[in-house]
Amino acid sequence: MTHLQEAIGRLPTLRPSTDGVFRDTHGEDRDSFARSVAEGLAKPLPALEHRLLYDAEGSRLFELITNLPEYYPTRAEASILERHAGEIADLAGPIPLVELGAGSGRKTSLLIDAFESRYDSGLYVPVDVSKTALDMALQDLSSLHGRTRIVPVHGLHASALSILERLRPALGVFLGSSIGNFTEEEENSLYQDLGQRLRGGGAFLLGVDLVKDPALIERAYNDSEGVTATFIGNLFRRIRRELGARIDMNGFQCDARYVEERERVEIYARFGKSISLRVDDLAVEVEAGKPILVEICRKFRLEAIEDRLEKHGLELVRTFLDRNGWFADLLIAHRRKE
Ligand code: AVI
Repeated sequence: MTHLQEAIGRLPTLRPSTDGVFRDTHGEDRDSFARSVAEGLAKPLPALEHRLLYDAEGSRLFELITNLPEYYPTRAEASILERHAGEIADLAGPIPLVELGAGSGRKTSLLIDAFESRYDSGLYVPVDVSKTALDMALQDLSSLHGRTRIVPVHGLHASALSILERLRPALGVFLGSSIGNFTEEEENSLYQDLGQRLRGGGAFLLGVDLVKDPALIERAYNDSEGVTATFIGNLFRRIRRELGARIDMNGFQCDARYVEERERVEIYARFGKSISLRVDDLAVEVEAGKPILVEICRKFRLEAIEDRLEKHGLELVRTFLDRNGWFADLLIAHRRKE
């Protein structure tokens, strides 16, 4: 049995469905969507989970955002991978890639290329909550990389982390500064998890958007074409359509601003009229004008990340920066004993 077949054989609890995508038990269903929305809107300071933004239309709109002239992170990270994918592949060795959030095909393609050109055959496992994102990744990548087996998995980050461990040694890949949408607590719990799972080998490539000129950051989230506002508004159209909520989109406003003290962008939605919905026996109303926090986009300092990694037994093997120093891809592994 080849190393590749043996690795695929270590994905036992996942079953392919007719469309060739593997599902685990953590995929988003209507009930968990409804519960998350109702509980989020019922909070004294209403807040929704950012992962809810990525239904089919949300994934399509996010892809548009990544191509906007103001949205620098995708281009900055692509430039890092253009220059350093080979070095990353050399450092990682001939191991499978497991990607959290399927991401833009272009960036991942650069990595897969580097692995393919060095090693005979490869395995790439994109894991995403969005079926559309997986389809897009599959479409973009399968025709380009003949020697890499692609096994898409429909699931949450927890699934990706358990696959990472099961395929060990593997390279986990979490690009685009999606970790910026995590709270600090969620970020730390990812490092804690990695501290356990990388103990026996493997590595993790983490993309982080760095603290920089606030005007530059703010522009990236207030694009002139209003695509970001449409992306945020899409979640509320989804809530109205799928959960029968009463939401008048005419008075919808999207407000994205960089809060310097917190080094993060906060994106709020507001409505001209109150919005309401009922999920089982929970009736929720958000009054007109009350801000609803839809997403935070944290920006990072390298020293602070290094400290946090150290606390969880991890080390920064290599830091790759773009030419402007705006974005970093960090190669992380378990700390070697001295
Ligand atoms: C997916 N994530 C990294 C994006 C970001 O920049 O935080 C989501 C986004 N929201 C609005 N624009 C982009």
